[in-house]
Order: sequence, then structure tokens, then C-alpha cells
Amino acid sequence: MSKVKIASTADINAGKVLKAKANGQTVLVAKVGDKYCAIANKCPHFGLPMAKGKFENGVITCPFHGSKFEICTGKNVEWVESFVGIPLPDFAKNMMAMGKGPTDVANFAVTQEGVDLFINV
Ligand code: FES
Repeated sequence: MSKVKIASTADINAGKVLKAKANGQTVLVAKVGDKYCAIANKCPHFGLPMAKGKFENGVITCPFHGSKFEICTGKNVEWVESFVGIPLPDFAKNMMAMGKGPTDVANFAVTQEGVDLFINV
């Protein structure tokens, strides 16, 4: 593992996620309250990028099938709820899940030195 700078505090806008590179992988960084948080930009459902998902109250919604994750913990809070923003009935949620159960997304502890933000990857 190595410590990698992912952003400066000035890069982070309130209520938005920032897409950043860290050793070849893409992460999403945001400030929630006073805390900087980061998760992988790779939904554990189909591995698709979540950067364009809705971000609200520290939770990002995958834009493809509506799974939701806490950006400060990676915890899954909803699993496969919609298809490109259109809510799915329960039977279709199960089909869309394709046998995959709720899974957390990779989460990274963010450290701050001055105005620079780092994660270990
Ligand atoms: S790829 Fe994210 S919920 Fe399906």
C-alpha cells in the first residue's frame, strides 16, 4: 500500500462528489459534515462507475440500478432499486440483481495534511 494524494480541500465542493485517480483506480471523494470521505468509483453490483450518481446526505446512488452507498463507510443502504432512474417493482429488482446480494463498496480512510487529502491504496 502507498499513500496517494487524491485532492486538495479546495477541490471539494459542498454536496458534490469529486472523481479522483489513485494508483490507477478511480475514487469518489466528498466532504460530509467536517469529514472527508472516499469510496471506489465502482459499484459492486456490475462494477459500473457511480460518479454521475445523485449525492445527498452522504449517500451516493448508482445511476444504473439505484443501489445506494454511504460515502464515509462504503455501506450499502439500498440494493438495486431502479433502472436508469425508473423505479422497479420487487420481482424486477430480483431479476436486475442477477443473483447478486447487497454488497458494500470499497471505502478508503482519508487523511488530511494541510490542504492536501490522501488515501492509502
Ligand atoms: S451497476 Fe450499480 S446498481 Fe447496478
